Amino acid sequence: MLKNKKIALYVTGGIAVYKVVDLMRSFIKNGAQVRVAMTDSATKFVTPMTFQILSRHEVYVDTFSENNPAHVSHVDLSDWADISIVAPATANTIGKMAYGLADNFVTSALLATASPIFVVPAMNTDMFENPATQENIQTLKNRGVYVVDPDTGFLAEGYEGKGRYPENERILEELENFIMTKDMTLPLRGYKILISAGGTKERIDPVRYITNDSSGKMGHAIAEAAYQYGAEVTLVTTSALNASKAIERVQVDSAKAMFEAIDERFDDLDILIMAAAVSDYGVAHPATSKMKKEDYSKLLNIELKENPDILKTMGQKKKNQFLVGFAAETDHLEEYAVKKLAEKNLDLIVANEVGKEDTGFDSDDNQVVIFTKEHQRLEVQKTKKTEIARRLLDKIIEELDHHS
Ligand code: PMT
Repeated sequence: MLKNKKIALYVTGGIAVYKVVDLMRSFIKNGAQVRVAMTDSATKFVTPMTFQILSRHEVYVDTFSENNPAHVSHVDLSDWADISIVAPATANTIGKMAYGLADNFVTSALLATASPIFVVPAMNTDMFENPATQENIQTLKNRGVYVVDPDTGFLAEGYEGKGRYPENERILEELENFIMTKDMTLPLRGYKILISAGGTKERIDPVRYITNDSSGKMGHAIAEAAYQYGAEVTLVTTSALNASKAIERVQVDSAKAMFEAIDERFDDLDILIMAAAVSDYGVAHPATSKMKKEDYSKLLNIELKENPDILKTMGQKKKNQFLVGFAAETDHLEEYAVKKLAEKNLDLIVANEVGKEDTGFDSDDNQVVIFTKEHQRLEVQKTKKTEIARRLLDKIIEELDHHS
């Protein structure tokens, strides 16, 4: 997400300055270009030289040390940046930003900044909770500036309180989310997409169920990729795998619960991708308490009932939604996949050979053939599921462009 992003990092004077050195290194590790400006007080905590060596660029401190007559540094920096980050942000600098003051390099550049601004306040708890600071923060938020909520914990003053500089990991996560919401150029920006993932569980009794080997890796990879492409993502999943916080996660277990979760959202969707391995049959009469050994005769004769075919039902209901299915097959892969594409009224299907050790169910890799409604065929050789997810979304985007 930060790859090739131009980040102007504004460092203001607080004990947390030393932690910002690491924050800057993570920006660089993630492929961003970073330029640093510091207030005089920030330079009392860590020298500009540290930031200069790590960013491999001059650090701006003095508004009037204009070395190049062809440029005005603070305006150049604000024009150059894709995003500006103030970390740590003192109560003083936040106040100046709120009032539009420009009395040093940092505040002058920030006042000249038109691109998105992300602020990480860190200060004494009383300064943070002072109504003046709170009002200033609110003013910034009202202008669309993103303000990270500080941590509560042990402060430099030797007592507990709110105002602590948060873990860099949280800052990075919130920053990526913020960038996503601001980047209007992402290919799936404005699209609502729902992805299903994992194998459904059909309860026999409260402790036993019928399921399959689907881990949810494929569906979760698609959900992450769709989110990275700017879509508003809902993930209906049976899996315990993680998902980014910005993804709406709906945890389900049975095919029936998955059907209900998808059905109630379907009218609002632009794209539905069914990567879940949905059980075609469920248990007709699941026991409400744990079956005993003596009941095992019942277990040997479990009566099954047909589950709803989610994709087929959505295929019948669809208006403008773009529908994508997966076909997990051990034989006649392409033939069965194309048949399912037609039967379920899909726009695209991913033929996925299963029953192999190193691809398909519960592996990090996959190998698929994608078919469009017009029987266009795209083979994706064995690669990571994260890459398959991107290739699939690229194909969907191409199809959407084609049909719009
Ligand atoms: O989760 P992983 O371990 O990463 O594994 C990924 C995967 C192999 C499960 C995935 O890539 C995959 O192939 N998913 C589809 C599995 C499947 O149920 O295939 P199917 O051919 O039985 O079903 C065809 C399509 O109809 C699928 O999109 C399925 O989600 C959908 N379906 C099936 C039955 C049903 N009752 N309702 C449905 O919506």
